[in-house]
Amino acid sequence: MFKRIFGKSKIEKSLLEEQKNLSKNDLIPTHIAIIMDGNGRWAKKRAMPRIAGHHEGMKTVRKIARCADDVGIKILTLYAFSTENWKRPKQEVDFLMSLPQQFLKSFMPEIMERNIRVQLIGEKDELPQTTKAVLNEAMEKTKDNTGLILNFAMNYGSRAEIVKAMKDIMIEVRDGKLTIDDINEETINDYLMTSQLPEPDLLIRTSGEVRLSNFMLWQLAYTEFWFTDTLWPDFDEQCFMEAILDYQKRNRRYGGLKGEEMN
Ligand code: FPP
Repeated sequence: MFKRIFGKSKIEKSLLEEQKNLSKNDLIPTHIAIIMDGNGRWAKKRAMPRIAGHHEGMKTVRKIARCADDVGIKILTLYAFSTENWKRPKQEVDFLMSLPQQFLKSFMPEIMERNIRVQLIGEKDELPQTTKAVLNEAMEKTKDNTGLILNFAMNYGSRAEIVKAMKDIMIEVRDGKLTIDDINEETINDYLMTSQLPEPDLLIRTSGEVRLSNFMLWQLAYTEFWFTDTLWPDFDEQCFMEAILDYQKRNRRYGGLKGEEMN
């Protein structure tokens, strides 16, 4: 499978080597979330329009989805459009909204071949009709696929998600379907858009920015963070592997202590 994707390059060899290590210590993150940043700067460096950076970024999405699938990641959540991104120039917003269609048009056969399931978090109803339709179609077509979940965050904002969850819980209390005492962390989790997914194990943000930008604030409570200066269009399999290998060295304690530390 690797041969088909990467060819017989140096990178392939080192990835295969890393893959061996990955499966050896069995610490492959289940869920990786990525804040894909730096498309604009990538384009600016080349005196190209910002949308050229987004187009290149879309190619990286394909590359990293393949790689995630190859190494056995179960869920890849990608921050593709935030609720704040509507403030960008109309031409850029229109282009970003056209990306799912461009992406799915060329990648759908491989999505099916790889048994990938497309999912979405975010306020779908506010998306342009065509964007919504292509995403709905992709979700419907892949709903029985059991491989990698490719989860796009489109028109997603974590605070808005939490506000909506709170309101929905209040409605349940008002209608007598829940009591105040029923509400705990699990309940809140159940009302978030990610209710069917485990929390991310690893968050990657590219382009040197070190902030969360309203992304999965509740869900990232115990997630390991990995930042890189690499701009998203330049992010590749090697960078992705580096992040995973670094994750494997971390000691996740969830606020407690591990085995020998207890003595
Ligand atoms: C942030 O970079 C990136 C975005 C707002 C868009 C990310 C979208 C993609 C990478 C493609 C998504 C693909 C699909 C299939 C939906 P920026 O523009 O803020 O970069 P800058 O900080 O350098 O200006």
